[in-house]
This record gives sequence, C-alpha cells and structure tokens, in this order.
Amino acid sequence: MSRFAYVNGRYLPSRDACVNVEDRGYQFADGVYEVCEVRGGRLVDAPRHLARLQRSLSELRIAMPMPLVSIEFIMHETVRRNRVDYGLVYLQITRGVARRDHAFPVTAVKPSIVVTAKNLSYEKNQAAAKSGIAVITTPENRWPRVDIKSVSLLPNVLAKQQAKEKGASEAWFVDRDGCVTEGSSSNAWIITRDGRVVTRPADNYILSGITRAVLMNVLEALQLRLEERAFTPEESYDAAEAFITSASQIVMPVIKIDDRIIGDGKPGSVSQRLRDEFHRFAYFS
Ligand code: PDD
Repeated sequence: MSRFAYVNGRYLPSRDACVNVEDRGYQFADGVYEVCEVRGGRLVDAPRHLARLQRSLSELRIAMPMPLVSIEFIMHETVRRNRVDYGLVYLQITRGVARRDHAFPVTAVKPSIVVTAKNLSYEKNQAAAKSGIAVITTPENRWPRVDIKSVSLLPNVLAKQQAKEKGASEAWFVDRDGCVTEGSSSNAWIITRDGRVVTRPADNYILSGITRAVLMNVLEALQLRLEERAFTPEESYDAAEAFITSASQIVMPVIKIDDRIIGDGKPGSVSQRLRDEFHRFAYFS
C-alpha cells in the first residue's frame, strides 16, 4: 500500500485519500491511467508514458488538468514521499465529479487526478523471470479501442482471475480471427525457431506498450529480426521462446501456454538477454 497519495492538489495519508462518490471514474470508468516503473527512485520512460496519457485523454475528450511537467513533478514527489526505490507509480485522471448522467457534464468540470506509488520486491520479480511464467488464452471480449489506456478494465480483471485460477500468471486474449491480441495487462511476444521476434502491430486492438516500444530499440541494437504481425496460439505453442512486456514486468519469459511447454520449458536465452539489456535503452528521470 502506498502511504501517501496525491489527490486533486494534496498529498494525503492513504487512509484519508478519497474521491467523491459522484466521480465519473468511480461511476462510469470514465478515465484513463498510466503505470510507470520506478528504479533507484527514478521514473523509467516517463516522457513516453506522459505522451500516451495525453493521447488517451484527447481520444476521450477529457481535458488535461495541468501541464505535463507538473504531472511529472507530482509523480516524482509521490515516489519520494513514499520512499519508493523499486516499484511503480500509478497515475489516474478521470473526467471529474458531476451528478450522474451518462453524457458528458454540460458545464465543464475539473478532471480528477490521483497519483500513488508503491514498492515492489525486486527479488520476487527476478525470481519469476528466472523460472518463467505460464499463460492461458481466452476469447477477446474487450471493446475495439483498447489502444486507449482507460480504467475500464473489467474484461482484463476477469481474464487475469481466470488465469490465476488455472495456475497461470497472465491471460492472452484471442480475437475472432484466432489471433492473439495481447495479455490482460501486458503485450504478447513470441520468438520463432528461426529467430524472428514477433508481436502484433500496435493497432486499436492492443495497447501500444511503452515497454514494447523501447524493446524495439533493443532488438535493433542487438540486430534481432522483428516481425510486427499477428500470431495464433498454435504458432505460439510451437515457438522457440515467448515472453510478455509491461512496465511492471519489463520482459517476463513465458514457459507454458495453455498447458503446452514452450521450448525446453525454461526461460529462453534471447528473452533473458532482452530483459538484461532493457534498462540500457530506457530513459531515466
Ligand atoms: N499494464 N497491454 C495492456 C492491456 C496493459 O494493461 C499493459 C500495461 C500493457 C503494457 O504496456 P506498458 O509496456 O506501457 O506498461 C499492454 C500496466 C502495467 C497495468 O495495467 O498495471
């Protein structure tokens, strides 16, 4: 738990940090969020996260509550006040507080902004990467605008719970064409037996991950072949390696998909190398 949260202009002890019951984020999931990794007390790739935040807000016609530099300052300050060395900072902006009515408030309201930060166990995350994780596949049931990082995450929540109940750590959504879109909170990747690194193009059906974008720079530097195209669960069963990417997991090797063992059942060497190299290409602030 975060000990201090920033809520609409104030840093409050978590137990006192509240939002209005008429907040449209609470009532309609009418808001957006970002999650940024914290390493050594510094933010990882904050400018890219903030650029995506700006895009999500603009797609939903929610006003930017303050300049991006002020938001970045609040993120740093929340990290500092919570003494986060390794962990995450969470930022959420909703359309604001108004009497419940589905349509936008007639008179403009101020967007609500909340920032929290928490420590994670570096050792636990590294241990997971050493053993690799299992994923399941599940039918895609989200709206076709998941490129917007909206707080409306019910299908993601249910998919993650389904994975958990099956002893897996992530669920990959499979669209009507039988192709993997992405994970419930991560992007999905495979490495073919001839060494091509495959991930779905960033269309409206996946979130354009910041970790995904940075990893593409890593691939280029390591002269690995990238193929941006859709792949099926069947192709993934036969892959040499598989992994997921997200701000909280960076590159997390996958060793099992739907009970099929991937490669030799151990994290692949390329996935591990990508994980090791990642932060050389990330931007710290
Ligand atoms: N999840 N796809 C989905 C559906 C996600 O929720 C996330 C991130 C990603 C990866 O994006 P990025 O590399 O920018 O973190 C892809 C965050 C970590 C979360 O919801 O906690």
